Amino acid sequence: MEKKYLIIGNWKMYKTPSQSTDLVNEIAQFKCPDKVKLGISPPFTNLCPISKALKNSSIVLGAQNMYCAKEGAFTGEISPQMLQDLNVHYVIIGHSERRSIFKESNALIHQKVKVAQDFQLIPILCVGETLEERQAGQEKAIVEEQISSALEGISSALVIAYEPVWAIGTGQTATPEIAQEMHGFIRNLLKEQFPKDGESIHILYGGSMKPNNAAELLRQADISGGLIGSASLVPKDFMAIAQSV
Ligand code: 13P
Repeated sequence: MEKKYLIIGNWKMYKTPSQSTDLVNEIAQFKCPDKVKLGISPPFTNLCPISKALKNSSIVLGAQNMYCAKEGAFTGEISPQMLQDLNVHYVIIGHSERRSIFKESNALIHQKVKVAQDFQLIPILCVGETLEERQAGQEKAIVEEQISSALEGISSALVIAYEPVWAIGTGQTATPEIAQEMHGFIRNLLKEQFPKDGESIHILYGGSMKPNNAAELLRQADISGGLIGSASLVPKDFMAIAQSV
């Protein structure tokens, strides 16, 4: 069976709503290989204009976070129902910046994954170890704990993104061997939990994926896409990554 890829741009807290439509229109002009599904996750304020701009496009829309309730007195939060209404398909949950800066716990992340699925959103669960954890030889234990706590009682309608914290925004990409080793480990965890579908769940790599290293990473057996930060804000770089498969 031909391998399919999922490449998602995580714009983080970059671009205003008015800047975002130009960027999206530029991305939409490129030809993307058939075996690649392309998505972008802009800030919440940009979802509405981008949802309109992508109306007739095959590019899918993702959000970067959500709160785990349909609605309620949660000042400053965004609900899965609001995302659904804007044709959002994916939602990034548990990004390392949410875990470290905003102190999101494994328990909260589990709730968010569960509620995302309740609203037919596909969670992109982010996992990954810090440099200190890797140096202490704990990287697999950390990732296993992040995955097993988040996936309790969850269906296989999800995506995992392995993002080693030491590779995010640092220009220091994991080598294809290091990345594949962890992706293979994650694949086995998924197969244990989902004997029927574990093999086909997307496992994305994230952390300084760029046009010059994407092809080799994406060639690895258990890497079926990327979660791209800064390179996704440069249309020709984002597209070069998608075209490198
Ligand atoms: P960079 O590609 O900028 O390292 O960011 C990766 C990331 O955090 C994607 O979610």
